[in-house]
Amino acid sequence: MAFLDEHNFSGGPGVLPSSVLQQVQQAILQVPELGISLLGVSHRSDWFAQVVAEAESHVRYLLNLEDDFAVLFLQGGATQQFSMVPMTFLAGSTSPANYLDTGYWSHKSLPHAARIGPMRTVWSGYARSYRDLPLQHEVVYDPGAPYLHYVSNETVEGLQFHEIPGLDSVPRVCDMSSDFLSRPVDMKRYALVYAHAQKNLGPAGVTLALVRKSWLDQTKTDLPDFLDYRQHLQARSILNTPPVFAIYVVLLVLRWLRFEIGGLDKMQAINAAKASKIYNALERLGDDVKIHAQPSCRSQMNAVFHFRHPEWQQKFLDLSQKAGFIGMEGHRSLGGIRISMYNAMQLQAIDDLVEWVAEFCRQPG
Ligand SMILES: Cc1ncc(COP(=O)(O)O)c(C=O)c1O
Repeated sequence: MAFLDEHNFSGGPGVLPSSVLQQVQQAILQVPELGISLLGVSHRSDWFAQVVAEAESHVRYLLNLEDDFAVLFLQGGATQQFSMVPMTFLAGSTSPANYLDTGYWSHKSLPHAARIGPMRTVWSGYARSYRDLPLQHEVVYDPGAPYLHYVSNETVEGLQFHEIPGLDSVPRVCDMSSDFLSRPVDMKRYALVYAHAQKNLGPAGVTLALVRKSWLDQTKTDLPDFLDYRQHLQARSILNTPPVFAIYVVLLVLRWLRFEIGGLDKMQAINAAKASKIYNALERLGDDVKIHAQPSCRSQMNAVFHFRHPEWQQKFLDLSQKAGFIGMEGHRSLGGIRISMYNAMQLQAIDDLVEWVAEFCRQPG
């Protein structure tokens, strides 16, 4: 069976591998090894403990994670991490946490930190409508900061860091929600990485947090259990009833990434090929389109552009939808068109879209 999802270019929740969707379809009726529906499996069962353990092992393998990292399956989305990070690592500090303000989502994280303790925005692209990212020498970081927080891929503007910012002596915290597991990452240079599932990992409802235990051990904050990474670690991510369905789908996606794709080097090569096809096609359209991001920081996950003629926008969305290309309306804060090409988006779908966009621009409407 072909899934329409193969042409789902949505910013997230987005496309998932069709082999995974097929297994999920089956598991909703009956998990093969259990004989009951996935939706009715107890989170206290041995089977589910094994699901969590296996998912963790794939994350560890794919990212070559040191033992010092805890792998946690949390709830509350990336937004809850905007608060949990400062509540854990900023409360009581006299030196300011450093934040990079590089787009819609990193901007959203700022007040969450400011509410908890001292923080300093060390670079902001706000005044230039978030079209570029800082070069290392353009930012003066505080060597005594409790941490640096940044977003590796700005989903709304289509900006992606291709170098790791910050000082190696200051703990790095990164929101990788929209490019997690899309490329290899040198995790030695991070203290905490988080990513919600609904881009590259699975459905909404679960958020991964990879936290250095040695850093966590230093925190003295007294938090409600649910907001305390230590409690989730102790409970092996089953502090209360977790989203069993979402975590199972994440496991299937991780198996796909490890065994069908062959790991993060392979995934990166595929993602680079997809992105270059899209950006080359947009550039061939010349003045008809304006790509939002400067070339050096274009995202391999989200390509964002505006048409020179604003009246093309709605026509494009209507006609593309009719042609079976879904989810390309830009974020409400920026407008325009956003083509998201997460891990599960296939090269063939990109080829189909590129051909369709060229045809549209030859004869808009
Ligand atoms: C990079 C990034 N961070 C944070 C968020 C907010 O995530 P959530 O809705 O899971 O709280 C998003 C949402 O798309 C995002 O793209």
